[in-house]
Amino acid sequence: MYNQKVVDYFMNPRNAGRIEDADAIGEVGNPKCGDVMKIYLKINPQSEVIEDIKFETFGCAAAIATSSMVTELAKGRTLRDALKITNKEVADELGGLPPAKLHCSLLAQEGIQAAAADYYMRRDGKLPEGLTVPKTCIACGCEAEEEEEERFVSEHDRVAE
Ligand code: FES
Repeated sequence: MYNQKVVDYFMNPRNAGRIEDADAIGEVGNPKCGDVMKIYLKINPQSEVIEDIKFETFGCAAAIATSSMVTELAKGRTLRDALKITNKEVADELGGLPPAKLHCSLLAQEGIQAAAADYYMRRDGKLPEGLTVPKTCIACGCEAEEEEEERFVSEHDRVAE
């Protein structure tokens, strides 16, 4: 079902764990399955470069592999650059995911968004223009909404076509 690279990133996750004195923490959940992911960031306050990043994911093999990959892609980038990482990019870097597991990669993309939102809220007390907290964010108590479910379906359908 999974290619060799996905299995490797699942069996030997990169950057797994937590950062005790993190500058930001993002927590997201997948409404489709109940899996959750937490992203911890250490950010250089001047350059906004992500100097360290770790994750804790309770989820399937694809969720853990994509969590692992997104930390590698984000480390060393500025926060704003890391926000450009898409779930498709993460899945592509892993050599692809089975269509039925593509929704799992959304956790990785949204985990970065949620962590960035936490960083800006802690620093500025508000989100920068254009940045929204993912609807699946469970850190703030909000729940996934209908349209989020629809997005999972359409992502899925697009790959299946
Ligand atoms: Fe839950 Fe993959 S089945 S994230």
